[in-house]
Amino acid sequence: MIKLAPSILSADFSRLLEDVKKVEEAGCHLLHIDVMDGHFVPNITIGPLVVESLKGKTQLPFDVHLMIENPDQYIKDFVKAGADIITVHSEAVVHLHRTLQFIKSHGVKAAISLNPATPLNVLEYVLEDLDMVLLMTVNPGFGGQGFIPSTLPKIKALKELITTRGLNIDIQVDGGIKADNIQEVVKAGANIIVAGSAIFNSGDIKTAVDTLKRNALD
Ligand code: DX5
Ligand code: ZN
Repeated sequence: MIKLAPSILSADFSRLLEDVKKVEEAGCHLLHIDVMDGHFVPNITIGPLVVESLKGKTQLPFDVHLMIENPDQYIKDFVKAGADIITVHSEAVVHLHRTLQFIKSHGVKAAISLNPATPLNVLEYVLEDLDMVLLMTVNPGFGGQGFIPSTLPKIKALKELITTRGLNIDIQVDGGIKADNIQEVVKAGANIIVAGSAIFNSGDIKTAVDTLKRNALD
């Protein structure tokens, strides 16, 4: 099953809950929450307080994408704030195995994200510990950027690796996914699709979600 995870980075923060309700009613599956610290990426967004303000107000699971240095320091806070999945960047973590166990010890799903230039081989010895891999299809930091085509063969290679090892790990893609390229990433092997600007900047959330879903499966 293909799941849609709207990124609230492109939502209207002055009406955040309204926008969340809209994507929920439109039939999305997860709420993608982009956390940026101004160090790991050049932008600053939101922290656990904002995430917690949405807790209990939507049925959508919280998919928390940490684009921050030293994520271990904040994992507990995001769990408390309602996170269901916590993704850390391989480039931001020194002891990946330890961090993954730490996330899982809190009873939430653990995922690793790779920047477009980061090779898949960093996953080699931790793949079995993962619930999901997030492949960045833009350089993280901003919504509304263009999809980087060299990430397509990377999605395929990851899918092959997961299949060869007989594992059941979600492949999430994030960045520059629109109605005209969603099919390509799904065909390559992605099953959780993040979309920010394509949904929230569309002027009509329901139609945008329907179009993405239809094109994903065509
Ligand atoms: C980029 C974020 C993405 C971003 C996606 O750093 O991780 O989640 O908001 O936005 P679009 O879909 O507009 O590229
Ligand atoms: Zn993201």
